[in-house]
Amino acid sequence: MNIPPINLKAQFKGVKQDVMKGVREILDEQKLILGQYCLKLEEQVAAMTGIPHAVSCANGTDALILSLMALGIGHGDEVVTTPYTFFSTASSIALVGARPVFADIQESDMNIDPGAIEKAITPKTKAIIVVHLFGKICDMNRITAIAGKHGIPVVEDMAQALGARRGNVSAGNFGDIAATSFYPTKNLGGIGEGGMVLTKRDDLGEKVRKLRVHGMGGTPYIHEMIGFNSRLDEIKAMALTVKFPKLALWNKTRLETAGYYNMHLRDIAVTLPIIEDETSHIFHHYVLRTDKRDAFQAYLKDNGIMTGIYYPVPLHLQPCFSYLGYREGSFPGAEKAAKTSLAIPVFPELMKSEKNYIIKVIRSFFDSQVEENSITEEL
Ligand SMILES: Cc1ncc(COP(=O)(O)O)c(C=O)c1O
Repeated sequence: MNIPPINLKAQFKGVKQDVMKGVREILDEQKLILGQYCLKLEEQVAAMTGIPHAVSCANGTDALILSLMALGIGHGDEVVTTPYTFFSTASSIALVGARPVFADIQESDMNIDPGAIEKAITPKTKAIIVVHLFGKICDMNRITAIAGKHGIPVVEDMAQALGARRGNVSAGNFGDIAATSFYPTKNLGGIGEGGMVLTKRDDLGEKVRKLRVHGMGGTPYIHEMIGFNSRLDEIKAMALTVKFPKLALWNKTRLETAGYYNMHLRDIAVTLPIIEDETSHIFHHYVLRTDKRDAFQAYLKDNGIMTGIYYPVPLHLQPCFSYLGYREGSFPGAEKAAKTSLAIPVFPELMKSEKNYIIKVIRSFFDSQVEENSITEEL
């Protein structure tokens, strides 16, 4: 077998006809930017999440930058976030002129540890960015209580968690403002770059709408603030509106696959992801943890199973952040996760036979490890 980490071609087959029809229509009409499809996408996401202001933009990184700009974050400010996430969670902080301050992750789900957030807060802290990593919602009860106590706004980086819910509260509702991404590999992935800012706060929603078009309000060429160009193209928005109705089923299928893996891998010496309930983890990635990660990854590859490491180097150890003064050992939780995590295929189009094959290969790796260990012990 040959199993890719994600199968975008298989997914596209299911929407191809409608997307191609939409492309033709948009090209005929020549309404190419911020038109009816951007509006429709914003309405779809607003309706699903229950968040009134859904503002499409060029990509998820811009969505984070726009969120921070709307909150007025800039030079001299600190923003607390996790060191174990995709780069732009922290680069967005630096790009608006503020200082990223990292707080370590918790062992259980690799999401930011609320206790560590509290310790990282200083008088300069002007925001907290939480990341619902791999699709699992953070401990938002504790995080919003801490933020509320200190009067600090919360930004949710929900690039990996669009459609996740805790009870009937969707990701994006917990904090002041949220950023998501439609990068092609995301749970709702586009046919190019794309992103969105979500907020319940009218003041922030209005600001973001202006900031994404050079700070212009109602009057063309009058710039109320210094914004930038972060508009979404109609063709990309249209493809997302075609895929959108399938998102709930795709997320459910990912969760079912995760449950299936957990059931069939629970007795082997590997750390499995936690499934707390039916909705709060949408398994953008299904991540196993083992000290033998590199050998495990090589073994899966030899057997035709492609995997991913998210993320091999935690952000506090990235060369570009050396000015922050962190070292190896600063965040042991993130450093351990970076050395032990491996994402195995969990995309919705994965077939039952492929899932069973993956389980078989994983079990055979750990069975051979058990044999090796007992031989070493005997020697
Ligand atoms: C957690 C997280 N934040 C931010 C981003 C940035 O999104 P984009 O690639 O659309 O800029 C991504 C995705 O790449 C992500 O996974």
